[in-house]
Amino acid sequence: MARHSAIITVMINAARKAGQRLKRDYGEVDNLQVSRKGPADFVSAADIRTEKILREELSHARPDYGFLMEEGGEEPGEDPDRRWIIDPIDGTTNFLHGIAHFAICIALEELGEITAGIIFDPINEQMFTAEKGQGAYLNDRRMRVSSRTNPQDSIFATGIPFKGRGTEDDHTAFLAEMQSVMAESAGIRRFGSAALDLAYVAAGRFDGFWERGLHPWDMAAGIILVREAGGLVSDLTGRDKMLEAGSIIAATPELHQPLRELVRKAGK
Ligand code: IPD
Repeated sequence: MARHSAIITVMINAARKAGQRLKRDYGEVDNLQVSRKGPADFVSAADIRTEKILREELSHARPDYGFLMEEGGEEPGEDPDRRWIIDPIDGTTNFLHGIAHFAICIALEELGEITAGIIFDPINEQMFTAEKGQGAYLNDRRMRVSSRTNPQDSIFATGIPFKGRGTEDDHTAFLAEMQSVMAESAGIRRFGSAALDLAYVAAGRFDGFWERGLHPWDMAAGIILVREAGGLVSDLTGRDKMLEAGSIIAATPELHQPLRELVRKAGK
């Protein structure tokens, strides 16, 4: 059983409060699927509302910290060294379509390093948490990345670029990556939330994950979850520059290099 630090407790409380409201909104979205107007406006309102609750709760607990938010952008705090990185709904397209796979993400960045992260799936009540040097947890139970070592036994998750995301060349390059990875693995999954993909790597459900074109808020919390669960994380060129590059590859220690190689050789 994990005893949460003060900072993780602050993050959990904020996510739970926002999650309660988001869960009610999700019920409403499901009803709106059949309406002529569709749920799009309602969903963007829910996104903004969720971020507002998170912002209020976190700034109440730590008034000096800054913010980087998906909706509200950057908001410097009085403390120049600490900021929250927030994604109110990661998996917005799933949410919009009434697919119960999305999450609230909060990461804490201190002096340019992610030191704490939580990813909360409010529908399935799964709270993934991690703090630097303290391990990673799923609802208070310790998480470890999987022990698989062979790509051929492994399941890898990814994100598929869509309209408005990347050029035609990027889409073609992604198809080559899929081909390379699928030929050497037990399967590829695309569930629609990069944050939950990373949380699932940390929980040992997926053996690895790669994606390009991500924003810092899609990845920040997941990076520390995977690392604290014993996995390796880098950008697609192998550097510790995921937030800057917008690309990520996260996997078990044995599978990180083979997965990176499969993705890299597709680009040749
Ligand atoms: C999206 C999800 C998705 C990924 C996209 C992201 P959002 O985040 O993480 O899985 O493929 O690239 O933008 O927009 O739902 O917060």
